[in-house]
Amino acid sequence: MTPSCRTAATPPVLLARTLAVLTLPTLILTTTPPSHAQAHPAAITAGGAVGTPPDVLPDPLYPTLGQPGLDVQHYDVRLTVPAPGTPDLRSDTTLTVRADRDLNDVRLDYSGPRVLNVTWNGQPVPYRHTTGQDATPDKLIIQRSLPEGQDARIRVTAAGPAGGVPDPTLNITLGWQSVPATPTQPGANFTFSEPDGTHSLIPCNDHPSDPATFTTTLTVPRGVTAVASGSRLADRAHLNGTHSVTFALTTPVPTYALGISVGTLDTVRRPDLGAAGQRITLTDYFPTSVPDAVRAPYARTGDILTALSGWFGPYPFSTYGSAVVTPDLPALETATLSTMPVRSSRERVIVHEVAHQWFGNAVPLASWTDTWLNEGFATYAELLWTQAQGQDAAPLLRSWRDRLRPGTRPLTATTRAQMFDATAYARGALALHALRTQVGDDAFRTFLHTYTRTRTGQPTRTEDLLHLTRTVLGPQAADLLNAWITQPDLP
Ligand code: TRP
Ligand code: ZN
Repeated sequence: MTPSCRTAATPPVLLARTLAVLTLPTLILTTTPPSHAQAHPAAITAGGAVGTPPDVLPDPLYPTLGQPGLDVQHYDVRLTVPAPGTPDLRSDTTLTVRADRDLNDVRLDYSGPRVLNVTWNGQPVPYRHTTGQDATPDKLIIQRSLPEGQDARIRVTAAGPAGGVPDPTLNITLGWQSVPATPTQPGANFTFSEPDGTHSLIPCNDHPSDPATFTTTLTVPRGVTAVASGSRLADRAHLNGTHSVTFALTTPVPTYALGISVGTLDTVRRPDLGAAGQRITLTDYFPTSVPDAVRAPYARTGDILTALSGWFGPYPFSTYGSAVVTPDLPALETATLSTMPVRSSRERVIVHEVAHQWFGNAVPLASWTDTWLNEGFATYAELLWTQAQGQDAAPLLRSWRDRLRPGTRPLTATTRAQMFDATAYARGALALHALRTQVGDDAFRTFLHTYTRTRTGQPTRTEDLLHLTRTVLGPQAADLLNAWITQPDLP
């Protein structure tokens, strides 16, 4: 009998406490191979063996992304940006990889600058770079086998203009963004990669089911500020007029969440947050041209983090901030360093991106069909913040229903166009509100804490959430949530 079956009859609130205790021993005792995890997608501990992602590829919406059986543990990214505002780059990326099954070769997603050299544990290795011109996927195929359970360090150097991954639904090119210099404004670059733009920059296993840690070193001209996801470690000046800044992100995140921003930026350090023995540094970055009215709402970031931690559990990283950018794009929850367009510099959007640090970054998707797990929670956070301010949530609830008036669908996306539609955001949020209304605030908070604690670093599906709902909140709550997930119309 699995722990989840045993605990199903336990009263919900009591259970939440025992769950943490149950989960850990289960992880240690579980010796099931990864393929077994797929047979039981609903088990809370599915894929729970540390470093062993559940076997989730190919993704129905992105069948060519990622390599089944490849587990990248760490990316050491070194980027030189010789002329900010242009797409020119030099890159030197080392991936620490591991095989979850015997691999005949390693196939990384890549459409970035031209490859100069590839080494495998320090030795040259044959490789082939296929490009997407004729509908073949962009892959850097490294012709070396990797037996199950073995590690390798793969180092790729490249130089030239960054690639770009077209996103037809958003009508932009994902990946490395270049903002050319104008007479009044110096050039800038930044990443905007969800869902699959990171492989326009570096070779990677570009799917959220394989989160990894990142070290990022950026070399830029003197006077240019360069920031990336993670905590800043060092800033070294070189004799040639450049400097190199290093950031370390020690909590695994999906590849699309790698954030980098380069430009002539003001750095605004806020007071540290010290919640429950945790120290969180807060730093925002604004292009020097950006006026105070745009900067003002970011002063609330610390309060937002504090309020959301109360609902979601401990903040999963040790630093946070926003990097404001000038182009018109959606905001993006790049890990520890949200990418915030000037046009989205509003409190509500800041709340939304902070919430994604838990939902999407710490708790990654197993499949792009389940974007509502990211967007529904991040949208619901907007209501939680509204109420924390002592404001009425009714207008927000009404606006979500209004957004769904033209039509809705079951929560699991079946096309790429649905991934970021109104249903993912507004119906996802309404589903969580319905659940909260049924079980009450205390049980709902316990449920959220349990979800973030048990799913951090674990690629997560809708079924995992439903299973947790049943375990923590009971079968009635799970039935309610299931109706919101599966019914064609709004329940
Ligand atoms: N995840 C982002 C947010 O809601 C939005 C986003 C990222 C997006 N990529 C996208 C929206 C592509 C539409 C299309 O915070
Ligand atoms: Zn979002």
